[in-house]
Amino acid sequence: MAVEYDASRVTLVDHPLVQHKLSILRNKDTGTNQFRKLVRELAYFGGYEAMRDLPLEDVEVETPICASTFKQLAGRKLAVVPILRAGLGMVDGILDLVPSARVGHIGMERDEVTHEPHEYYCKMPKDIDQRTCLVVDPMLATGGSAEMAVGYLRGRGVKDIRMLCIVAAPEGLKALTDRDPDVHIYTCAIDECLNEDAYIVPGLGDAGDRIFGTL
Ligand code: PRP
Ligand code: URA
Repeated sequence: MAVEYDASRVTLVDHPLVQHKLSILRNKDTGTNQFRKLVRELAYFGGYEAMRDLPLEDVEVETPICASTFKQLAGRKLAVVPILRAGLGMVDGILDLVPSARVGHIGMERDEVTHEPHEYYCKMPKDIDQRTCLVVDPMLATGGSAEMAVGYLRGRGVKDIRMLCIVAAPEGLKALTDRDPDVHIYTCAIDECLNEDAYIVPGLGDAGDRIFGTL
């Protein structure tokens, strides 16, 4: 039976360049070096979509021709929050877009048998509650890791949380949208299902191992 989730809270980033790069990423023969580059590039494209609604303010600029009014980002503070390890591979792609964003880390590892995540590290900017948080992790499988990360940030008083992944399973989209009433999810693909090991099908395998070459 199909897993139902609130599709209004999910944005599929399906630009042709994204689909092309993601097909290379999925290929089991793509090596660590190229995999890492592609994860960074896909984070850039996904981040571009996830920040589409950031507020702007007027700014006076003098061009070589005349002075006029233009737009700049209105001082909204941002934080990128990678879920370790695999989320680390997406950080530089986001920082390419917003170089002054702060970075908060959440270390989380799934138990191989129960598939439940356990947290092993956490370090956030002090003013995290004042920031728009973009949580990044290439894989949203059962959704357990993302749920725990979003729950932690809510506990720290963060109001605006966006989740950016590269491949999501319907099960993870349901779990996260059911768990949190406001989080919006951006993903480059929505795959078919999970297998008995809670890996995404067809997916791309173990993202952390492929990024860091620990296969
Ligand atoms: C992977 C992945 C996500 C999580 C997704 O991390 O990077 O964090 O699993 O699965 P879930 O949605 O079912 O929680 P893993 O625990 O393998 O750790 P790693 O990034 O250190 O390899
Ligand atoms: N974690 C991964 O890295 N890949 C999956 O398919 C599921 C969880």
